[in-house]
Amino acid sequence: MEERVFNGEEKEEEIGFEASLRPLSLAEFVGQDRIKDNLKVFIEATRARHEALDHVLVHGFPGLGKTTIAYIISQELNVNIRTTSGPVLERAGDLAAILTNLEPRDVLFIDEIHRLNHVVEEVLYPAMEDFQLDLVIGQGPSARTVKLDVPPFTLVGATTRAGLLTPPLRDRFGVVLRLDFYGPEHLAKIVSRAAKILGISIDDEGAMEIARRSRGTPRVANRLLRRVRDYAQVRADNIINRPVTDAALKMLGVDEKGLDKMDRKILLALIQKFDGGPAGIDTLSAVVGEERDTLEDVYEPFLVQEGYLNRTPRGRMATRLAYEHFNLSPSEQRQQQDLFEQKDPES
Ligand SMILES: Nc1ncnc2c1ncn2[C@@H]1O[C@H](COP(=O)(O)OP(=O)(O)O)[C@@H](O)[C@H]1O
Ligand SMILES: [Mg+2]
Repeated sequence: MEERVFNGEEKEEEIGFEASLRPLSLAEFVGQDRIKDNLKVFIEATRARHEALDHVLVHGFPGLGKTTIAYIISQELNVNIRTTSGPVLERAGDLAAILTNLEPRDVLFIDEIHRLNHVVEEVLYPAMEDFQLDLVIGQGPSARTVKLDVPPFTLVGATTRAGLLTPPLRDRFGVVLRLDFYGPEHLAKIVSRAAKILGISIDDEGAMEIARRSRGTPRVANRLLRRVRDYAQVRADNIINRPVTDAALKMLGVDEKGLDKMDRKILLALIQKFDGGPAGIDTLSAVVGEERDTLEDVYEPFLVQEGYLNRTPRGRMATRLAYEHFNLSPSEQRQQQDLFEQKDPES
């Protein structure tokens, strides 16, 4: 079976490992300074007023720290956190049960909030706005609506797709935080910090090398650290430096630029099967054998950010950089088309 180093969310075996590495305070949260500065102000003000913090929406691609931020907010506010997710909340009653059991000022974390169904979402509106639930009790002619108070709480919603939130839901968040990909320096810090917690010996160059190849994503950095550690344990006396990292990542199929097998498969499919593109996302998904959502949430954002792929109104296209990565050269005609595409404001 093909090894997938970079696919989306937490893997089952990783959950405990991730929890052990999760920073619990704003001070430990590396990078994203703008977000930290904002949160610091909101949290201090809220604590001084003994109120619940405004509802917070956190959006960003998988592994950038959304769940971590939800936990940090509850820690910094010194309140409990209840966690659930959009797909898990099936009925209005599920949400009502959670809300009525909160303590005042608690955090309710709803992961994948863009996947809430509309019945549950409508119950959420008055809860967010007025801390009230409108519940329908009974059925048929004897059905009646009751209003229930819920304690003031803070909803922290996380999503990979802010664009999929309905406008009324989005408007009810007072604070919106967007997580960006991390630069190598911040990722190197994250790697060094994780290594310390896990008792792994790694030098600065080793940490930087892992950071450079972690596609801007802390979860990937921690994941690669663990894999490189396994390699170092078996082949290199447990010490991670740059040559050890190089060798381990090569074995994992992660190349110099941090692209894995699936990244290369996507780009090569575009170049070789579609003459550089454009190709529609569903076609591409079928050709490379990866789910459309994973392509859109995990692979494409990084390939776009690094300049290997363009999204155009007509489909996905490989850029010149993608050709260069494989030492291939687009035909003359192709090059002209690339230039044309780059002028397209939509791309
Ligand atoms: N800013 C950060 N500083 C340190 N570690 C981080 C940071 N952001 C994320 N991590 C690490 O990456 C892992 C994945 O983060 P997580 O919050 O689960 O991402 P998301 O919920 O966005 O998918 C966490 O276990 C945490 O250890
Ligand atoms: Mg998460």
